[in-house]
Amino acid sequence: MTDQFLNDLLKKMTTEEKVAQLMQLATPFFKGASNSGEITGPMVNMNITDELVENTGSVLGAWGAAEIKAIQERHLKDNRLGIPLLMMADVIHGYRTIFPVPLAIGSSWDLELAEKSAQIAAKEAAVAGIHVTFAPMVDLVRDPRWGRVMESTGEDPYLNGEFARVQVRGFQGKNLKDDMEALAACVKHFAAYGAAEGGRDYNTVNMSERDLREYYLPAYKAALDAGSEMVMTAFNTVDGIPATGNKKLMRDLLREEWGFDGVLISDWGAVKEMIPHGIAANEKEAAEKAIKAGLDIEMMTTTYASHLKELIEEGKVDGSLLNEAVMRILELKDKLGLFENPYRGADEEREKELLLSEEHRNTAKELAAKSCVLLKNEHVLPLKKEQKVALVGPFAEGKDILGPWSFLGSTDEAITVKAGMEQKLGEKVKVAKGSDIEAGEGTDLEQAINIANEADVIVLALGEASEMSGEAGSRTNIKLPDAQLKLVEEISKLGKPTVAVLFNGRPLDLQGVIDKTDAVLEAWFPGTEGGAAIADLLYGDVNPSGKLTMSFPQNVGQVPVYYNHFNTGRPKGAPDAQIRYVSQYLDSPNSPLFPFGYGLSYTTYAYDQFSLSANTLHAGETLTAQVNVTNTGKVAGDEIVQLYIQDKVGEVVRPLKELKGFEKIHLGPGESKTVEFTITEEQLRYHHADLSLTSDPGEFTVYVGPSSAEVQEQTFELV
Ligand code: NOJ
Repeated sequence: MTDQFLNDLLKKMTTEEKVAQLMQLATPFFKGASNSGEITGPMVNMNITDELVENTGSVLGAWGAAEIKAIQERHLKDNRLGIPLLMMADVIHGYRTIFPVPLAIGSSWDLELAEKSAQIAAKEAAVAGIHVTFAPMVDLVRDPRWGRVMESTGEDPYLNGEFARVQVRGFQGKNLKDDMEALAACVKHFAAYGAAEGGRDYNTVNMSERDLREYYLPAYKAALDAGSEMVMTAFNTVDGIPATGNKKLMRDLLREEWGFDGVLISDWGAVKEMIPHGIAANEKEAAEKAIKAGLDIEMMTTTYASHLKELIEEGKVDGSLLNEAVMRILELKDKLGLFENPYRGADEEREKELLLSEEHRNTAKELAAKSCVLLKNEHVLPLKKEQKVALVGPFAEGKDILGPWSFLGSTDEAITVKAGMEQKLGEKVKVAKGSDIEAGEGTDLEQAINIANEADVIVLALGEASEMSGEAGSRTNIKLPDAQLKLVEEISKLGKPTVAVLFNGRPLDLQGVIDKTDAVLEAWFPGTEGGAAIADLLYGDVNPSGKLTMSFPQNVGQVPVYYNHFNTGRPKGAPDAQIRYVSQYLDSPNSPLFPFGYGLSYTTYAYDQFSLSANTLHAGETLTAQVNVTNTGKVAGDEIVQLYIQDKVGEVVRPLKELKGFEKIHLGPGESKTVEFTITEEQLRYHHADLSLTSDPGEFTVYVGPSSAEVQEQTFELV
């Protein structure tokens, strides 16, 4: 449509109609449910009139072509100006075909496949009538107590930015207007939601603006540079002000500095939450703060609907703010082609063809296999088909492997470990649960020990229930539940080769598992094809290649523990260090159990001939780092070659290492490849004390290697 069309439309709208465009309600309201019926949470006891529903701008969580068409059709009949609804939903790691959770996708370091998975998720959701997905979530995460770490790709700003970019591209395709099988993306949660104090969900975030800009903001920026149409605010405070009422974040940074002109939406109920946060005395003040700060859509509360008109009439809010917000929403509807075709994409026939298609399942299987990380392997994996296996544990036949936010994914459609192994072996596998996920009593521990006793090798399938992570899934104990630790203990007493396969949404404290088993495969929540991918890995049909993107702590007391930390003034292990008065724990090492970038393979790789093209770098020029990587083992594999840089002396303290590049390469047995990285002055810039983004001349160390902790180094000087 033309700008003229949108301007005319805006002119025709009454203030009430405009205000209602800014409201987002969940699906039940569009099915005639009263707000006392199916609705819980912040919407209870709100006065949602039929008129308000008729004028609402967007719907949260509707799905299915038939249902969405029906909602839209009814709405267009009721809506005076025929403005179509925007349909938004949380399509996070798949719609019906469920891919591994994002933290697992991060572990694949496979940008191409991550993009493809977002594309498939978009396709399935778009033909089911959805227009916008509340993804990607790109919050930087350092604290595994926080249940939502599984929604992020990890602890590194650069890597998160790379995944943000490809996910947005995957969801949005090339052109939303022409591509009916693409979705608009909504990057979230702006900003720094991942830094909730103590890992407790919705908790305070306290950090300097420099840290915010240096570590937390880059991934959101990357998503916006890739064209994300929307941004969702976070629940938390940033520098004492809830993100949803934070003018500095929204108007000053997003709009002014970054030039973002898309739609800003609150998180669920977050406008009204400014009251308990303590920066608004009542809903009217909350509405005033949110609109002034720059928020367009209010999700699931009605402070705008109830108070914006009055605020404008009283002269407290400038009417132009309302007009601008409405225009952004109309523009998004136009970009999606909704004025021409309000039923965009929704197609029951395509739904039947596409949802959970073989092609989609195959991609889910490939990505699941690439997302698993082999943490330990003492000569037990890969298994041999002729070995007698006992499969033990709550996840042996457990179907809760899709993980949180698995939209229409059905656990019944998920391939369990047992099913995956049986498909491969063509025969029944001996199985016993041995323990529930949390409770051990009354389960068949004896049976588990019996089958384990008769086996050559034991596979323990262990983990967290999906509701133990995800939103509101914070925990102070990040070990496996006691019942499962007891099962591991009992099985380990048999002294047989034992492999643990772990299903979980966060880095765990693995004491009691890592020390009692011979091999550990971190499978995360691997999605619909999880069991099939795991069987491929266990039997060596696929060689594990995943590497961690979030450090695994030795124990919860070390948290937060992350690779790109500072040295401190009293680093442990320095040549002149004292014994006691250094930065350390008396009862634990400083280093994590498994660091960022770590993961094993069934082959081995040698890194040699690491060199730099010069020992100085001038601004505007480039340096090349080269390393030769050889597969020194007997099987082919994918290796993730990592490049880190350290700025030796900065104006402010710089991290010991920062990821600046990586490349995933395939090497046959005996094969070598030379991997090249280009280093530029831009990569050396950081936020100085005055927040300027510049580099400092001086010495830099370049590291390459298979993980953040196993590296070779070279130095150069920036002149
Ligand atoms: C709350 C979550 O924080 C957010 O990530 C999600 O998109 C919304 N609810 C909508 O479901």
